[in-house]
Parts: sequence; structure tokens; C-alpha cells
Amino acid sequence: MDTAVVIRRGVPRGAEERVVELYWEAFGRKLGAALDPPERGRAFLARHLNHDRAAVALARGGDRVVGVAGYQLGGRALTGGGVRDVLRAYGLFRGLPRLAALALLERTAERGELVMDGIAVDPAHRGAGIGSLLLTEIAAVAAGHGCSRIRLDVVDVNPRARALYARHGFAAVRTERTPYLRALMGFGAVTTMHRTVPGHPGGAGPGNPLEQQR
Ligand SMILES: CC(C)(COP(=O)(O)OP(=O)(O)OC[C@H]1O[C@@H](n2cnc3c(N)ncnc32)[C@H](O)[C@@H]1OP(=O)(O)O)[C@@H](O)C(=O)NCCC(=O)NCCS
Repeated sequence: MDTAVVIRRGVPRGAEERVVELYWEAFGRKLGAALDPPERGRAFLARHLNHDRAAVALARGGDRVVGVAGYQLGGRALTGGGVRDVLRAYGLFRGLPRLAALALLERTAERGELVMDGIAVDPAHRGAGIGSLLLTEIAAVAAGHGCSRIRLDVVDVNPRARALYARHGFAAVRTERTPYLRALMGFGAVTTMHRTVPGHPGGAGPGNPLEQQR
């Protein structure tokens, strides 16, 4: 398969449903716990995407999105939609438990920090370096916004993603055990990882894996 891709910033207009499809394929268990039923949840996410909060991989020679990395910066993440939007879409009675589940997934970026929202590559294109290209692009986005740090969370049931992050210079800073989420969302612990952005103290340098790839 030809896995050559072009990395772009921003979700192209018209690609919202495709981006949500990739997110849902990767994180459906988590998202579905909050935004069920799936068709409605996907439609909600597509309607409330913040286009400028992602880097995407487009299959070369076409405009099909084969990978997406969403992030939160300055109070906005790729997946948007506030309390009012949830209540409007689901009503009060069905909306409140959804808001509670969404709150469990919510992360807030501190000043000078970019928080990864999620990274997902089309299953048919995994293992070909697209995830790495997207991580490199996100590091460039962070540097461009003057961020000193990138933060992400990875769940205990995803050791391969964690290994990928470690190869990109992310180091685990803490692990929170979440046994109460195992039945609902499928994982029992969340590890937070940090990496310093090149150009900031402790960032660029010969030992930095991202720097070596450029
Ligand atoms: C994690 C993910 C984005 C990596 O994208 P990718 O394009 O396959 O990444 P690369 O080709 O640059 O690197 C491959 C590495 O990714 C990691 N990886 C994680 N899950 C993987 C999967 N299902 N298939 C292939 N590689 C995977 C491995 O460390 C792999 O290295 P290895 O081949 O030595 O095992 C992609 O596998 C994916 O979408 N997974 C499902 C969603 C997900 O888990 N996102 C991360 C949430 S924290």
C-alpha cells in the first residue's frame, strides 16, 4: 500500500465526519461512554469540531484524511461543544449524565502548555510512520505558539502508544489509577507524560529524538 502522506495543519472543510470517524474508531469506547448512541455522538462531535486544533495526514495524491492529531491550546480543543451544546443536543435529563462522563475526559492546558487531545491513524495505515509525523508536527505547532511543554495522557491498555511517545521524548510524570473507569471506559489507569518543546530549556539537543528526525 502507498502510505506516502502530506501533513497539514487544520481539519479541511468537508472532512469533519472523516476526522470524527478516525477518532471514534480509536477512542469509541471512551467517547461512546459519554456520547451514545454512536451515530448521534459522532454527529455531535462533527458539528462542534474546532478546525484549527489539529494536524492531519492526507494520503498523497488525494484528500482523504488517514490520520489526525488533535490538541488543546488556549482553552480550545479539537473536540468542542460546551455544556449548553450538550444539553441542547440531548436535553436536560439525558444531557446531565453525559456531561458528567465528558468531565472525566476533560483536560485543561496550563499556560505555556499544549495538551494532546488524541492521535489516531487509519488502521490500514498504521505502523508506517504517520503517527510519528503527526507528533513531529504537533511539536512544531507547540514551538510556534511559544509553548514550553507538551502534555498527554495514555491509558494502561495502550503500551504501544506509550512506547511511541517515549521514542518521541515524552517521559511519564505520574500515573493515576482509575479502577472506577474500567467497566465504563475500558482502562484502569492513566499515565500523564510530558516533553519539553525544542527551543526551550532542556528541549532541543542531540539527545532529543524529535530533533534527530528533522
Ligand atoms: C498510536 C497510533 C496513533 C500510532 O500511529 P502510527 O502511524 O501507527 O505510528 P508510527 O507508524 O509512527 O509508529 C508505530 C508505532 O506506534 C505504536 N503503535 C501503537 N498502536 C499501534 C497499532 N495499533 N499499530 C501499529 N503501531 C502502533 C507502536 O509503538 C509502533 O511501533 P512498533 O511498530 O515498534 O510497535 C496508531 O497506532 C493509532 O491510531 N492507534 C489507535 C489510537 C491510539 O491508541 N491513539 C493513542 C491514544 S493515547
